[in-house]
Amino acid sequence: MRIDIVTIFPEFFSVLDVSLLGKARESGLIGLGIHDLRDFTHDRHRTVDDTPYGGGAGMVMKPEPWGEALDSILVPESVVIFPSPAGEPFTQATAQELSTEPHLIFGCGRYEGIDERVVDYTATRARVRCMSMGDYVLNGGEVAAMAMIEAIGRLIPGVIGNPQSLLEESHSDGLLEYPSYTKPAEWRGLEVPPVLLSGNHGAIAAWRREQQLERTRRIRPDLLD
Ligand code: ADE
Repeated sequence: MRIDIVTIFPEFFSVLDVSLLGKARESGLIGLGIHDLRDFTHDRHRTVDDTPYGGGAGMVMKPEPWGEALDSILVPESVVIFPSPAGEPFTQATAQELSTEPHLIFGCGRYEGIDERVVDYTATRARVRCMSMGDYVLNGGEVAAMAMIEAIGRLIPGVIGNPQSLLEESHSDGLLEYPSYTKPAEWRGLEVPPVLLSGNHGAIAAWRREQQLERTRRIRPDLLD
């Protein structure tokens, strides 16, 4: 998979050099391009924002630099993702779906957002998804894009050493994950649930399923609707 990111803060993405995604880049499973939006401006101040038509607080990102940046990266196979608190919810199912795409572009807005015509125009050239990380407001799309890239990237075959772990984690089957324990069997007076020491694989699987259901009912009943 190829991932391109357009941002006014390219340095945010240096963390993609480390950990599993860093290894995936080294091994060629993921190709990454990070593009500074200001490189697509033509004025002395490298201006990327302006005041909103109709008034109101804050600044809006100008369409021209976005147009030039996306023109230079986009191909018809691309999926262009604009992180936005006004977008559709990004879920594990979205991550699954996007992990099979050949080319993702993340357009990271700042300020009060990007001129809406950028989204409309881009949608005439490729598939566009405006995606929200949750019902809260970040200062811009960068942190949201990073979270999405990690969620998507780890689903690409070969990125995670043991693919079985992907099948057993939270949200992979619509439920929260069961609790996990390791040695020692007793720590600060707290014991590991005895069933996990029993060696009875059927009983362990049943216990884990019950824990998933109990946790999901208690913490995220909305997932069971
Ligand atoms: N940009 C600002 N807030 C955001 C959010 N919650 N999700 C995605 N992008 C954002």
